[in-house]
Formats: sequence, C-alpha cells, structure tokens
Amino acid sequence: MVLPQRLDLVDPRFRADPYPIYAELRADRPALRLQLPDGRDAWLLTRYADVESVLTDRDRFSTQSFLGQEGSAIPAHLSNVYMLFNEIMLGKDPPEHTRLRKLVQKTFTTRLVERLRPNVVDLAEHLLDTVFERARATGERRMEVIADYAFPIPVTIIMDLLGIPEAGRADIRKWSTALASFDGSLAQAELIVASVDAFVDYLRKLVQDKRNTPAEDLISALAVVEDDGDRLSEDDLLAMIYVLIFAGHETTLHLIGNGTRALLTHRAEFEKLRHNPALIDRAVEELLRYDPPVEVPRARIAVEDVDLAGVTIRRGEVVLVGIASANRDPGAFKDADSLDISRVENRHLGFGKGIHVCIGLALARLEARIAFEVLIRRMPELRLAVPADELELRPGGIFLRGLAALPVTF
Ligand code: HEM
Repeated sequence: MVLPQRLDLVDPRFRADPYPIYAELRADRPALRLQLPDGRDAWLLTRYADVESVLTDRDRFSTQSFLGQEGSAIPAHLSNVYMLFNEIMLGKDPPEHTRLRKLVQKTFTTRLVERLRPNVVDLAEHLLDTVFERARATGERRMEVIADYAFPIPVTIIMDLLGIPEAGRADIRKWSTALASFDGSLAQAELIVASVDAFVDYLRKLVQDKRNTPAEDLISALAVVEDDGDRLSEDDLLAMIYVLIFAGHETTLHLIGNGTRALLTHRAEFEKLRHNPALIDRAVEELLRYDPPVEVPRARIAVEDVDLAGVTIRRGEVVLVGIASANRDPGAFKDADSLDISRVENRHLGFGKGIHVCIGLALARLEARIAFEVLIRRMPELRLAVPADELELRPGGIFLRGLAALPVTF
C-alpha cells in the first residue's frame, strides 16, 4: 500500500480499519504531517516509544491553549463552547492542572468507586433481565449491545455518582453527544453552541441547588472541596462536571462495545474467558490495548523545538499521538496484532500516561469487568447478528473510536 501524502483522519475508509495504515506509518513514516479538520497542520506520531515520550513529557508538550491560541479570537457567542473545552483539567498544564487534579482526587476516590460495585452488578443484571423479557415476548433472542447494555451502564453510574436528577438525564445525553463530536473548529462550534449553552445553564442551576441543599453525591462534594484553603471556582466546577459526564460514558461505552466485538470475532478468546472468568482483569486490559476507545487523545502543543521520530517538531506545532497505533506496535508488544486475553506483559496506553493519565480508570475497569463477566455468564451463546465488516462506527471526531450499534443473537 502506498501511504497517502496527506492522511485524512476522518475519512470513513481510514476510520473503518486504521490499523493497516498505522502499521505502515510506524514502519515508514512515524511522524506524519497531516491537516486537522480546523485547517491547521499537525504531526501524527504512531510508534509506542514516541507516543509514550510525548504523553510523559509535561515540560515540552502542553495540552493548554489547544483552541483559541495566539491570533485566533473566539467570538463571544461561542464562549461557553470553548470555556467547557478549555477549562477542563485535560486542557491545563501544571501548576493549574496539578491544583485541579488534587481537588478532584480528594472527592473521586478509589473507595468511592469500590462502593459502586453492587450498583454496577445490579444494573448489568437488570439490563439483561429486560433483554430476556423482551426476547420471551417477541420470541427473538436478539439484542443491540450498544443501546441495550454498553451505553446505559456507564451513563447511569456516572449520573448516579454525580447526583444528576433523573429528569435532566435525557437532555444531558443529547448535549454531551453533541460535544463529543466537537473537533475544535469555529464552524463546528457554531453547530453545537445551542446545545452547549443549554448544558451550561442547566449545570449552573444544578450547582446552585447542590450548594443550597448538599446531598451524598460527587457534585455536592466538589462544590465544597478544599485543599489548603483552595476551592474550585464556578467555571472550574462546571468544566469538571462536564468532563466527568463526558469522559465517564463516551469512553467506557466504547470499551464495552469494541471489546464485545473483539471477543465475538475471536471466538477462542470468548470461550477462554467463559471457561475461566478469573481472566477478566487481564482480558479487560487486552481489550483496551487491542481496540482502545481513545484512538488519539487531546492534541499537544510543542513548547519548544523537539527532535522526535526523525523530525524536528517546532515550537507551537500541534502533535497528535496515536494511542491505538502505539498499542499495536510490535516493538512494544509480542504478537501485537493478536488478541490474547491472557496476555501478561501489557503496558498499553489505553488510559494515557503521565500527568493526564485517566482519573476514572478505576471506575472504567470496574464497570467493564462487571459488564463482560455478566454478559458472558448469562449469554454464553452470544454471536454477531451481522457480518463484522458491516458494523458501523459511531459518528464523531478523530479522538474516540467506537461502534454505533452492535446487533447480536444469544
Ligand atoms: C474505558 C474507559 C476510559 C478510557 C479508555 C479513558 C481514557 C482516557 C485517556 C486516554 C486519558 C488521557 C487523555 C490525554 O492524555 O489527552 C483520560 C483522561 C481522563 N479521563 Fe478517562 N478514560 C476512561 C474512562 C473514564 C471515566 C469513567 C472517567 C470519569 C468518570 C474518566 C475521566 C477522565 C478525566 C477527567 C481525564 C483527564 C485527566 C487529567 O487531565 O488529568 N475517564 N482518559
């Protein structure tokens, strides 16, 4: 295959199966110049070592001011869109990032996550009960994994955890889906601004309610959390809630969806897990490696000139790192293109690395382990209902990769 001079990351043919192209890039052009949807040029790095080095080099690569950098003023009516996008801790460098991360970590603890275990089990069982009841009523043993299972689990759990009232949840999903496809361009910001404004109004009111009447939930805790006299400002808090809602479901949804597809297209691995459920922890790590929900994380900006992957990345240039590609690098993984749920050596980058490493990874692991365990135990005859190459991706930007629908029989 001849590599295209300019790779279009949103080209549906590339998105359908980017792995062969990634393999060629790693071999022949580990730093590729491409154009972002907003028109700016960027580098795409695809080798494990280079991806890891950018993610862990907090001094030379910034996640800040990805949008609205020097010269490109943001129109006032789009300010909420960029406020949510830029004020999240993922878009901050130290010391501001350190400050935000410390505050959220005081409330979003491993103990808090562990307490959710019974809720996640009950929810997964209940969702499949509903599917079985429907099958009895219709006589058809079919389900759509994304809508019936992979989507409701993380959404319900994060909404419960944050303390979002039932009545607001459907709107939040709609607004959050609009934001999920945001690529940073002004043109797209125009398309989603109405949703984002409604979202911000809703969150402001909710935070006010929680301040007036605190409850046993994460928003109430975040509203009052203190560290050495430091507190979250109103904008900090809104952006934090937004990132937890968004990161809390768009990603885990895809782990359950992509992971189920991977297991169903590798029957021997499915059977291995079915007969040996104790492999679940390793299996989830392998599914995160094999087809990770975050294909490319937030863009980085070089703070100074950096020599990497055989090129000089100039100060101010945009760098994308291919997590999905790094996870298939034969230089980092034995039989990198094979799915092996009993893999022991597995330093995948599915949760990122360095100071921005996923703060929700304990929750994501808990949800995914339970989701797969319950699904496989209750539906040992699970099979794809359509050929694997007919499955379509959920529309979205270049950052997340997951299925729009996954019809199966059981
Ligand atoms: C399978 C599920 C998940 C995957 C694959 C995932 C992946 C990632 C990755 C790759 C990053 C680093 C991004 C970067 O460096 O640019 C990240 C950061 C983050 N994740 Fe997750 N995530 C998942 C679930 C969650 C959940 C459940 C939450 C919260 C409830 C969450 C909250 C966050 C936050 C807040 C950050 C930013 C951390 C920081 O900037 O310090 N994620 N995640």
